[in-house]
Amino acid sequence: MFRWSDLENPIVALSPMADMTDSAFCRLTKHIGAPVVFREMISAEGLIHGSEKSFRMGAFHAEERPLIQQLFGADPKSMADAVKMIDDAYHPDGFDVNMGCPVYKITSNFNGAALMKDAALATKIIRAMKSATPSPVSVKLRLGWSRPDEVLEFIKVVESAGADLVTIHGRTKEQGYSGVADWEMIGRAKARASIPVLANGDIHTPEAAVKALAVSGCDGVLIARGALGNPWIFTQMHAALRGAPWTVPTLAERIAVVREHARLHVTQYEEHHDLTTFRKHLTWYFKGIPGAKAHRDRLVKVTTLEELDVILDELRSS
Ligand SMILES: Cc1cc2nc3c(=O)[nH]c(=O)nc-3n(C[C@H](O)[C@H](O)[C@H](O)COP(=O)(O)O)c2cc1C
Repeated sequence: MFRWSDLENPIVALSPMADMTDSAFCRLTKHIGAPVVFREMISAEGLIHGSEKSFRMGAFHAEERPLIQQLFGADPKSMADAVKMIDDAYHPDGFDVNMGCPVYKITSNFNGAALMKDAALATKIIRAMKSATPSPVSVKLRLGWSRPDEVLEFIKVVESAGADLVTIHGRTKEQGYSGVADWEMIGRAKARASIPVLANGDIHTPEAAVKALAVSGCDGVLIARGALGNPWIFTQMHAALRGAPWTVPTLAERIAVVREHARLHVTQYEEHHDLTTFRKHLTWYFKGIPGAKAHRDRLVKVTTLEELDVILDELRSS
């Protein structure tokens, strides 16, 4: 049975990202050095109402362990039933509740960050999930709905409800992605908690990880956008946090990882047999890479592994 305390501190984990942290990407980041990964959110209502797509989203490869499956929903019973379904079918190492998503489609149904407005409901959800699984249940929050200090009370709510770990994205729901993540406020919340707390938001470089941990005093960091097109960030941060030098991948290493990721992607979505849904990753991998601009038009239209291999061969020898 996985426990958060099994991991070496500080924890450097892959943050859940819809359409991004799928099985292929999580497998790749684990190969390269992420100690733990959070899979993209799945709708609890989708699961319990028989959505085949939602159910398949919970599948993973053993290489992704330890792996935390995030769920979103607003009904305690549905959340507990969804946990049981995923646990019985796949047995991930832990579950996470999305209480931070600011998107209207999610919050209008009282999911995501809207749960920070209802401490009683948030408590019921965490308790129901905890009673449905022996595995750890964590919670992902924002600083608040509108005020950044809401988290100071809310962290006590989730802790009292039995959460095993909390991640805090250092912005309010109303901020969306504007402004900068407030690591200092995350630190004030951390100081009030006795469970582990991970800092999240704008930690996109090894230097930022060192600074975010120094400012917040957290037990680790959760990395989202900084890992897109950059799965090396976990080993880089691991080194930087120990004061060791870290390296940037060469173009040849980057290309080798892109090839591996593309193959994992095609294996996961075998019914499509093409790379249409992989193009978004290619954009991230080659953003700002010298020499890649000339190939960009073809990369964003690539359809097959064979086409991709030809473009990558040309890029490598250019
Ligand atoms: C494309 C994308 C999809 C996301 N999907 C989720 C999600 O499914 N669940 C979640 O809790 N947060 C989600 N987030 C938020 C991130 O996990 C993270 O909290 C946020 O991007 C701030 O961290 P960063 O500055 O490292 O990107 C998503 C973010 C992005 C960019």
